[in-house]
Amino acid sequence: MPRLALNGGTPIRPETKKWPRWPISNQEDAKLLAEITRSNRWSFDGPYEWQFAEKFTQYQGAKYGLCCANGTVGIQLALEALDIGAYDEVIVPGLTWQATAAACVDVNAIPVLVDVEPDTWNLDLDAAEAAITKKTRAIIAVHLYGAITDMTKLVQLCKRRNLHLIEDCAHQHGTFYKGKGVGSFGEVSSWSFQESKVLSAGEGGFNMCQTKKLFERLYSLRNCGRPYPANPAVFGEKKASALDTAIQSGNFRLTEWQAGILLGGLKRLDEQVKHRDAMAQYLNAQLARIPGIRTIRRRKEVTQQSYFNFAFALEKDLKVDNKQFCAALNAELNWPDSFEVPYEPLNRCGLYKPQTKVRHKISADYWKAINPKRFKLPVSEDAHLKSGVVTHHVALMGAKSDMDDIAAAVRKLVDRVDELRKLKAGPTKRYAALAR
Ligand SMILES: Cc1ncc(COP(=O)(O)O)c(C=O)c1O
Repeated sequence: MPRLALNGGTPIRPETKKWPRWPISNQEDAKLLAEITRSNRWSFDGPYEWQFAEKFTQYQGAKYGLCCANGTVGIQLALEALDIGAYDEVIVPGLTWQATAAACVDVNAIPVLVDVEPDTWNLDLDAAEAAITKKTRAIIAVHLYGAITDMTKLVQLCKRRNLHLIEDCAHQHGTFYKGKGVGSFGEVSSWSFQESKVLSAGEGGFNMCQTKKLFERLYSLRNCGRPYPANPAVFGEKKASALDTAIQSGNFRLTEWQAGILLGGLKRLDEQVKHRDAMAQYLNAQLARIPGIRTIRRRKEVTQQSYFNFAFALEKDLKVDNKQFCAALNAELNWPDSFEVPYEPLNRCGLYKPQTKVRHKISADYWKAINPKRFKLPVSEDAHLKSGVVTHHVALMGAKSDMDDIAAAVRKLVDRVDELRKLKAGPTKRYAALAR
């Protein structure tokens, strides 16, 4: 039997067989960027920005949509648009990128961290309901990696308990649930176009919403508080609204170059999402046959699943550390740093440190309430520390033969698990090998 690649054996995949890369662009994108450079409209309600906003909003099936600086700001603006602020409690899943909770503390709200479901790693809605108090104003659903929150149940829960529903869709451009796009369920949704995302402009963000009132408020919030419309000609309006209706805010706009590159990406998005979804289902079918491997549950209501990351879990019986498993998998696939463990849960996350900012010291009670350590998140902790394995969506951009290599590598590790347990794990660093 050949040894594991991490132990000096022959890898499943030779170094000469290259993996796809992300992000990608084409000649048409480059032409549009040059055109924007030569134009005298680089920002502030430019034509490409609104062309993109309209097309992306239509694709997801929401009523209104507008660009903003990034996905972190998008969540902050969503909260502010709904008048959520000091001491309001907002339910946030414990397994997400730190921005979901950080945006809450940046409006002086209290993120209440709630655990996730063991088979989808999306918000556990029974636990969310149990966490509701008199101070709860909203639930933020994060559609994580390649699985979506139970939107039927969540919409009903928010209605029944009179709570605002915000969707953090940073991972799920192109996901449809019962034929309806994510981001069109909540009153407001937030999106990220950061480099690693499936629709990317290097950086950038977006909000969708369901009413003109919220749209106008989001427009002001991202634009130094100026009332809608600041540039009347762009919207076919006669004149700008009087400044005396302005509100307090900052500049959270994006540029025409970002909008230009997003227009190109949007043309390719649906085809890419369909391809990744097909590859993920093909790979999942193979992984499901390997003892000790648990695939992530796909909800029956999903009509198209977008993948920011592809994930699976190691069963307890395998008795192998997930960091160790990732290091060995990367060695088998000749792909350094591609597989890694899921996010650090927010109660122990190195980048979620709300008690390091003086701005958050509004009272002793508030300071205590935002301490992330007060929350128990056993499922999220298990995913991060023991069972979870994830990889960037670029792994799903290749052909079926690439999925076969991944499945063969996982099978080899499981078959040689005794050898694996004895080896020392190497470090994993997020996406370092992908972009450059
Ligand atoms: C779930 C989630 N929400 C929000 C964000 C923040 O987006 P951005 O990096 O554009 O600020 C990210 C970024 O990775 C994310 O993964």
